Amino acid sequence: MCGIVGYIGTQQAAPLLTLGLSKLEYRGYDSAGIAVADAAGEASMRRAVGKLRNLQHSLDSAPLAGRAGIGHTRWATHGAPSEINSHPHRDATGTVFVVHNGIIENYAEIRVELEAQGVEFRSQTDTEVLPNLIKRAYDECQNLPRAIRSALQGVRGAYALAVMHSAVPDTVVAVRQTSPLVIGLGEGENFCASDALAILSETRRIIFLDNGEMAFLRAEGVEVFDLESGARRQKEVQQLDWSADSANKGDFPHFMLKEVHEQPAVMERLLHHYADEEKGCIAFPHIGLSREELRGVRRIFIQACGTSWHAGLVGKLLIERLGLISVDVDTSSEFRYRNVAPHTGGAILDSDTLVIAISQSGETADTLAGVQEAKERGLKVISVVNMPASSIVRASDGVIYTHAGPEVSVASTKAYIGQIGALYLLSLYLGEIHGLIDRARMKRRLEKFAEVPRLMREILADDSGIQRAAQRFWLAEHAFFIGRGYGQPSALEGALKLKEISYIHAEGYAAGELKHGPIALIDEKMPVVAIATQGVTYEKILSNMQEVRARGGKLIAVAGEDDEEVGKYADFVLRVPELTESFTPFVVALPMQLLAYHIAVLRDYDVDMPRNLAKSVTVE
Ligand code: M6R
Repeated sequence: MCGIVGYIGTQQAAPLLTLGLSKLEYRGYDSAGIAVADAAGEASMRRAVGKLRNLQHSLDSAPLAGRAGIGHTRWATHGAPSEINSHPHRDATGTVFVVHNGIIENYAEIRVELEAQGVEFRSQTDTEVLPNLIKRAYDECQNLPRAIRSALQGVRGAYALAVMHSAVPDTVVAVRQTSPLVIGLGEGENFCASDALAILSETRRIIFLDNGEMAFLRAEGVEVFDLESGARRQKEVQQLDWSADSANKGDFPHFMLKEVHEQPAVMERLLHHYADEEKGCIAFPHIGLSREELRGVRRIFIQACGTSWHAGLVGKLLIERLGLISVDVDTSSEFRYRNVAPHTGGAILDSDTLVIAISQSGETADTLAGVQEAKERGLKVISVVNMPASSIVRASDGVIYTHAGPEVSVASTKAYIGQIGALYLLSLYLGEIHGLIDRARMKRRLEKFAEVPRLMREILADDSGIQRAAQRFWLAEHAFFIGRGYGQPSALEGALKLKEISYIHAEGYAAGELKHGPIALIDEKMPVVAIATQGVTYEKILSNMQEVRARGGKLIAVAGEDDEEVGKYADFVLRVPELTESFTPFVVALPMQLLAYHIAVLRDYDVDMPRNLAKSVTVE
């Protein structure tokens, strides 16, 4: 939703701030603004309601000069979208400027207290108390780090801030209290942003701030401090391998479509990072558990939300088949209330139980809480995460990165492929450690894995059949997705994709469950997508399709390219390459994603930013 960018260095700040804000536009906003200061501390500010181009026009006609600045895109919470409510906000004397993401829970009482001291407020926002608190504290101690720490002591809420003070013109301060914030390191210049994407075109050397940290950015360097104690913190600098193009749609009309097309490359990156096909071996450099420890694992709990939970369901089937370890999968919001092991306060008792947390963002509150709960119960946790150095990674014992690159569209696509790809490799690794998969079998599996990207590209090269199906069903009000075995989580994921971006009510079912209730809803207005790829349950799914057909339901089958039988029962057949069953989730995902995409486009909805949804869900 809201976005923050900050800069200090040798270049003019305003163009860099607006460029950074433009990379955050995908998050949605209703106004934008920047404040810029020159070396003497002379600061000026410009804000505009509506699209960033409105701010840009205003800056084009009257530029702001200065080599330090902060910028913001605002999505209104406290107070209507208006210029006066837009960020930056400044104190009543125009000395301190603040941009803010998140919410200040106790702003109303702070405001009353400040008003009693004569402070006049201009806006209805919760943010405006902050520059006034910082100004008051600075006037008392004449020391910016101390002033910010003292000002924030009585502030409650989840927030990220960038702050400038006219008396300290060589500094931009960044504060993280729950809402994400990163620092970008340049040569003679430094940046901060609520999302690394905003500054990727300028630098890939990133420091991820932890909760309760503040960073002092100067042209010549960055220092990070603990907000509570004021102690200096040493931070790791991460070199992101993301391409600067990640923040652009390129030739694609939507990020979602671009990200769907990036999926073969995600699989290739996973192989590159973790596998050696020639030697037939797998290594996870950050897994955090020794082979000895993994050999002792007898039971696995996977916990995740949404699409990541669906990836977990695929992971269960893979690990149980290839690693022969029994796996439970929960949504994180349920997992954390289960009594999976006695509380030990973190002491390791249960060394044969492993928890795997899956998350694209690494910031999902429920999944993070599940990790913390598992640690409290003395369980080891490996996370499967896309975003480097995120909260879930830091809370876990080890991580397998999914290397999907930044995913911008709210609907998860390439991150899902990265997750199931990583889980596939993990299941092979566990199988090898447990003595079930020898070198030769490993080699064969990895060679097959390496073929999948090419097969995915074949599907992506021609989606005309999927578009035809979309044209036939885009006015539907409800849809079912059914599958068995590996097709079942794929069906759940297909239904989620359709409902979240096209707002068609869609449900995914294990196909065998249809006759236990949902079949009552089948009629000629109900499209049913059936995943009917070859496998042990193929005959059974054909029977389920006939049950649907007999009740007038319209069938779209996702089936192997050589399958002639399935066409007898389906109104549409979306073809995918014939593959060993355990590889089918990779190719089946594509027509599902594209079907949802084309339907959402036909319905003229905002594909990348569906209503009511956020890319990263940081509330429980
Ligand atoms: O970042 P996470 O993977 O932890 O997010 C979990 C879900 O919120 C996410 O997968 C959500 O379901 C997607 N928007 C679905 O496309």
